[in-house]
Amino acid sequence: MEQQLHNLKNQALAQIMCASSKEELENMRITYLGRKGQINLVTERLKNVGQEERKVLGRLVNDTKTALEYALRTRQQELHHVSKKEWFDPTVPGIMPQIGHLHLVTQAIDEIAGIFEKIGFVRVRYPEVEWDWFAFEALNMPKDHPARDEWETFFVDASPSPKYGNMVLTPHTSSGQVREMERVKTPPIRMINIAKCYRRQSDNTHAPMFHQFEGLVIDEGINITHLKGTIDYFAKQFYDSGRDHGPTAVSRIRPFHFMFTEPSFEVDFSCVHCEGRGCRFCKSGWHEVGGAGMVHPNVLKAGGIDPKKYSGFAFGWGVERAQLLKPGIELDDLRTLYSTDLRYLKQF
Ligand code: DAH
Repeated sequence: MEQQLHNLKNQALAQIMCASSKEELENMRITYLGRKGQINLVTERLKNVGQEERKVLGRLVNDTKTALEYALRTRQQELHHVSKKEWFDPTVPGIMPQIGHLHLVTQAIDEIAGIFEKIGFVRVRYPEVEWDWFAFEALNMPKDHPARDEWETFFVDASPSPKYGNMVLTPHTSSGQVREMERVKTPPIRMINIAKCYRRQSDNTHAPMFHQFEGLVIDEGINITHLKGTIDYFAKQFYDSGRDHGPTAVSRIRPFHFMFTEPSFEVDFSCVHCEGRGCRFCKSGWHEVGGAGMVHPNVLKAGGIDPKKYSGFAFGWGVERAQLLKPGIELDDLRTLYSTDLRYLKQF
């Protein structure tokens, strides 16, 4: 009888494992575990055997029952999954997962960093919550100097540092200049600092939070031709249409005044829409993009660098502004970039 039970168990397990439908499984459950099923028949017969044998066989019957119940459950789950697969209808239109991409400004930042890294600049980042010293004073803008007004600064309500003065949200990436001099200590320095900046301004060409990139080169014998060459290189690379003879931008520098550079310039790029002829975007054929100049000796001194031995140039522009001058990006309101309006952002 023991052997019979073993055979019954093996046979039942084999059949359950091969069952190909839920109905078949249900029939097997009835055949083996049902009220009049095989297992119960065996149990009936246990009444006629001796007590000792009944004990052993009883346990065997229980084990068999448990094994069959387990097998039935497992096979049922398997069939459930299979049937799901079998129900797959390839004619039903698929559901396209939402595919995201980098924000237009992040794309611009990556591209700008790449262009400067190619000619040996090192990308750095400095604090957005900054001390007055790095944002102004070390840049040759003494306390209460009217030149500071241009930066429309947000002040942080925190106790001032005895050494560095008030806490501010950095209004420009020039705050990275003296920090970089302190980091590198001995030139050469080739820095590209790309960061968020903040100013109290909001209209269709300004957002209170925006991005700038700041270049700083310091070494022996650096002069304006290096500055002009670098700016021209950037203009060509950034506005390269990718076509052999497509339009690209050239740069020009105009005399200007900044406290932290001497001489100082404003930088213009020729318009890529009209190749400098003048159109509805640029009017004059040029777009003003930012400032530049030769680093003021006082700034070098603030950074612990000897102005008699070293000279340098710096430039700083808005990332958004530079990017929006590219062909194909027309924007009535710059703040749209930060509006999270997917209808706009998806286009890029
Ligand atoms: N930091 C200036 C601004 O935000 C731009 C600038 C002008 C940066 C002259 C420079 C520079 O490095 O040399 O308007």
